[in-house]
Amino acid sequence: MSCLNRITLRGIASKGRHALWDVWNSLRRRFRRRVPGEFQPYYFTRPDRYPWLFGFAAERLGSRQNLRVLSFGCSRGDEVFSLRKYFPAADLKGIDINPRNIARCHARMRAEKPANMTFEIAATTKGESTSSYDAIFCLAVLVNGDLSTSAAQRSDPVLYFDAFEQIVGDFARCLKPGGLLVLHTTNFRFCDTSVAQEFDVVYKADPKHLAPDVLFDRNNRLMSGERERYRAIAFQKRLTAES
Ligand SMILES: C[S@@+](CC[C@H](N)C(=O)[O-])C[C@H]1O[C@@H](n2cnc3c(N)ncnc32)[C@H](O)[C@@H]1O
Repeated sequence: MSCLNRITLRGIASKGRHALWDVWNSLRRRFRRRVPGEFQPYYFTRPDRYPWLFGFAAERLGSRQNLRVLSFGCSRGDEVFSLRKYFPAADLKGIDINPRNIARCHARMRAEKPANMTFEIAATTKGESTSSYDAIFCLAVLVNGDLSTSAAQRSDPVLYFDAFEQIVGDFARCLKPGGLLVLHTTNFRFCDTSVAQEFDVVYKADPKHLAPDVLFDRNNRLMSGERERYRAIAFQKRLTAES
């Protein structure tokens, strides 16, 4: 067999191995037992994934002192490490439900030794103090990509509106008055939750920055107009009389 043929065959075998690996991983994710409280099962992320959004938040909060910022569903930490560029002096915390993701975050911390950065395994913000954060970023977390790709007519039993409402209700508790809640790529609308009345919409995304994920209503039914767009993604908690 010529050298060229051997190289071609090796190339085909390697591509085949990769394709099989991708199929195996996608089947494994689809059929693995769901972790209680988990929303998005996929951990795709990348550094500085939303520069337009981080830039907006930094400008909005720039003048506040002793900033504390939470990345909920931080995956392998890229989001938190990227936030440092936008919030140079802030305390940054990343939370993820998946212990393997947080192990990767800790490994990166050991290598890079960043200041004022912590990571924790958690499925909710129940362990966080009341009125303790200036901003909470929850990006591509309160969603399940399979609902869009499978053309689901209902979000349950995969996701429930009630669980979404509980999670964002607790984000509201954790935010300081005037704090920013940033929700991007969700299967439900923040405006449908009862806590939304404590917030003002302060940023609407350009449609080109919205993911194609579908939306479901309070009763977990696909929203009419199936591809209904919801552009509101940043919400500011109103100041109260006491604050
Ligand atoms: C697609 S990644 C998003 C990563 C990053 N926020 C971004 O936008 O690049 C979704 C992450 O949400 C995490 N996640 C899903 N449900 C969660 C929950 N209830 N609590 C904390 N993290 C959760 C997953 O483990 C995964 O790492």
